[in-house]
Amino acid sequence: MSTQNTQNKQYAALGQGQPLTTQTSAKPALEAADEVLIRVRAVAINPADYKMVGQGQRGTVWPLVPGLDGAGVVEAVGADVRRFAVGDRVLAMFSPAANRTASYQTHAVLREQKVARIPDAWSFEEAAGLATCYMTAVVGLGLGLAMPLPFLTDSSPNTFQPSSVLVVGGSSALGAATLQLLRLALPPSTIILATSSPKHHSHLVSALGATAALDRNSPELAAQARAACPGGRGVDAIVDAVGGADAAVFDALDPAGPRRYAQVWTGGAEIDAPAGVDSVLFRGRDLPRVHGAADLVTALQRLLEQGAYKLPLPVSLVGHGVDGLQRGLELMRRSVSGEKLVVT
Ligand SMILES: NC(=O)c1ccc[n+]([C@@H]2O[C@H](COP(=O)([O-])OP(=O)(O)OC[C@H]3O[C@@H](n4cnc5c(N)ncnc54)[C@H](OP(=O)(O)O)[C@@H]3O)[C@@H](O)[C@H]2O)c1
Repeated sequence: MSTQNTQNKQYAALGQGQPLTTQTSAKPALEAADEVLIRVRAVAINPADYKMVGQGQRGTVWPLVPGLDGAGVVEAVGADVRRFAVGDRVLAMFSPAANRTASYQTHAVLREQKVARIPDAWSFEEAAGLATCYMTAVVGLGLGLAMPLPFLTDSSPNTFQPSSVLVVGGSSALGAATLQLLRLALPPSTIILATSSPKHHSHLVSALGATAALDRNSPELAAQARAACPGGRGVDAIVDAVGGADAAVFDALDPAGPRRYAQVWTGGAEIDAPAGVDSVLFRGRDLPRVHGAADLVTALQRLLEQGAYKLPLPVSLVGHGVDGLQRGLELMRRSVSGEKLVVT
C-alpha cells in the first residue's frame, strides 16, 4: 500500500484563536463493527466551528479538529454495517467531540447511524451542509415545541399541533431547515411566518414553504404577524432559530393561545421570555431526548430520496483545503446572510 493511501490530513487549531494548521496522521481505523470510514470531499462551516476555535466553546480540548458537517465517499465499512458499501456517496453528522469523528480532515470515522446516502442529483457541496441544521431543527420542533414529527418512524407522545408559527431567523441555516420541517410535520393550512432581511423573502416563501415573510427590522413586525393570523389574534408559537427575539417579537403571540417559545442555544445568554410564555431552550446535544432520534439520519435520507426535503439555502463555495476552511471561519465570524459556506 502506498504511503499516500494510509495518510490523513487534519486541519486543526492548536489553541484558542489559533489559525488552522495542516497536520498529517494515519487514517483513523475502524474500531467498532458498525463504523464507516468516509473520505471527506466537502465541508460546510457552522457558527459552532468558529465559536469552538475562536472562543473555546463547548469545553473544547486542544488541538481541535473542528467540523460538524460534511459529505464524501465511503472508503471502508465495519463487519456489521448493512446500509453502506465502499464507494457510496454520503453525508453525515460529524462530531468534533473526538478528532477522528470531525469533518475538517480528509478521512473521518462515524457510526453507521450518523450517515445518510446522497441522491445522485445532489453534489457533495450541496449535501455537505444539510445534517446539522436539519438535526437541530428536529430538536427545536420535537423538544422545543414538543410537536410530533411524522417523518421520523418512532411514535411520539407529543401532541402539540400549532395552527400558526413564527420562525425568527428564517434565512439562517437552522431557520430554513425549521421552515421545511414545519411544512412536513403540520397540515397545509398551518400559517408559517418567518423573519429575515427582505432580500430573502421570496426564497422563504417559494422554496421553503413559508406562508409569508416579514422584515426582521420592521417596527411593525409583531403587528404584521398578528394580522397574518385569523382574527388578527397572533401566532400559537415562536421558534427562534438565531436567538434574535427582542421584547417586541413576543407581541406576535396570541394572548389567549398556547404561547410557546423555543429558542436555540447560541452560546450566549438565554433570552428571558415575558411572564406567561412557555420558553424552552434547545440545542443539538439534546437530540437523544427527542422521540425517534435514532432514526433521524435515515429519515433525512428518505426525505432526500423522496424529494421532500430541499436544499435549505444556496451554497457559497469559499475555497479549498486549509486556506478555504480558514477563510470560511473568518466569513462566518463576520456574519453570513442566507447562504451556506462550503469548502472542498
Ligand atoms: N446549540 C446548537 O446545538 C446549535 C445548532 C445549530 C445552530 N446553533 C446556533 O443557532 C444560530 C443560527 O445558526 P445557523 O447556522 O443557522 O446560522 P447562520 O445561517 O449563519 O445565520 C445567519 C442568518 O441569521 C439571520 N439573523 C441573524 N440575526 C437575526 C435576527 N435578529 N432576526 C432575524 N434573522 C437574523 C441573518 O438573516 P438576514 O441575513 O436575513 O438578515 C442570516 O441569514 C447560531 O447562533 C448557531 O450557533 C446552535
